[in-house]
Amino acid sequence: MSDGNGADGTPLLEIKNLVKQFEIPGSKQVVHACSDVTLTIKRGETLGVIGESGSGKTTLGRCVLRLLEPTSGQILFEGRDVTAHGRREMQRLRSDVQIVFQEPFDSLNPQMTVGRQIGEPIRVHMDISKAARKDRVHTLLELVGLPPSTYEALPRQLSPGALQRASIARAMSTDPKLIVLDEPTSALAPEAEAEVIRLLKRIQRETGIAYIFISHDLSLVGEICDNVAIMYLSQVVESGSRDQVFGNARHPYSRALLAAVLQPDPLKRRDESARAERLEGEIPSPIDLPRGCYLASRCHFVRERCENEPQELVGAGEPGHHARCWRVAEDDLKEEEIDRLRHERQSRTADSST
Ligand SMILES: Nc1ncnc2c1ncn2[C@@H]1O[C@H](COP(=O)(O)OP(=O)(O)OP(=O)(O)O)[C@@H](O)[C@H]1O
Ligand code: SF4
Ligand SMILES: [Mg+2]
Repeated sequence: MSDGNGADGTPLLEIKNLVKQFEIPGSKQVVHACSDVTLTIKRGETLGVIGESGSGKTTLGRCVLRLLEPTSGQILFEGRDVTAHGRREMQRLRSDVQIVFQEPFDSLNPQMTVGRQIGEPIRVHMDISKAARKDRVHTLLELVGLPPSTYEALPRQLSPGALQRASIARAMSTDPKLIVLDEPTSALAPEAEAEVIRLLKRIQRETGIAYIFISHDLSLVGEICDNVAIMYLSQVVESGSRDQVFGNARHPYSRALLAAVLQPDPLKRRDESARAERLEGEIPSPIDLPRGCYLASRCHFVRERCENEPQELVGAGEPGHHARCWRVAEDDLKEEEIDRLRHERQSRTADSST
């Protein structure tokens, strides 16, 4: 069975120390959107990228397609550095790697029929006749469960769920090896969302495609992803298999995120353990990032060293599990200490309520 790597052992995609900064016009300062992001994706697998708004998820996805130019770092697709690609290689990359955006209506031209738009990447990337192109579009419509009449429809005539299916059909039109799904279901009602997720899973089973699944929704990521990366303020702070990250989160930020969101009972979200993990304090500005750990001003486990030393993504125990926290790396953040802090907090809460 394939291990998800190429015949020569190369993964499908390797992102190495990616940095993306946006210049602020008229200023020497920059917005740090991605800082030192390192991730790997194998063929046929789904990597979930989770993080609060502004943590850099979309910027990361757009850099992979080179819709944005990275400031530094490497992005290797099938072992070749896409940041060094010329025009011809870029054309190939655009066919191998596609993107689906959050708002299907915004990503489709309101004046052009859906069929023509699904056929557009085929026209650009595949040397086939007009009739063959039309046949292919109909096959794609069938793949995503849309009726043939969708071909002649304009985007405004489709429901949001059907539009997102059409966007997926367009992304699939060039037989890509990877699709970046940037919050593909967040604009959909629950039923349409569930249908799109089922569709994505089926396509992956049938074609062996890989996904980067960007989302705020942890339960969705838990449902569809093999591996997970948690981003905070431009950095990946924890990465690993879904079970490693969801079952044994080590980084204080990941623990807080999971404690706040994964508790299915909203009443229990207010219980003591969730409260003990919760972060307090202001999030630093992406224009003026701290010298040491970016979480230092909000972390319950902060020590002097945290404020002075930039943190690297390092091994967090099991192979493949990484966290950006020296205390995790040195196994200095023990469950006993987390419990101690939890109890301290409980007694403070009890004192303040008497
Ligand atoms: N074109 C741009 N110019 C300047 N700053 C930008 C630009 N695009 C994004 N940013 C900034 O880069 C940072 C990362 O933004 P990004 O859109 O990648 O975050 P995100 O995690 O996708 O957020 P969301 O969950 O809201 O979609 C933010 O601080 C954002 O304000
Ligand atoms: S390095 Fe320090 S401040 Fe940062 S997450 Fe770890 S314990 Fe918290
Ligand atoms: Mg985004």
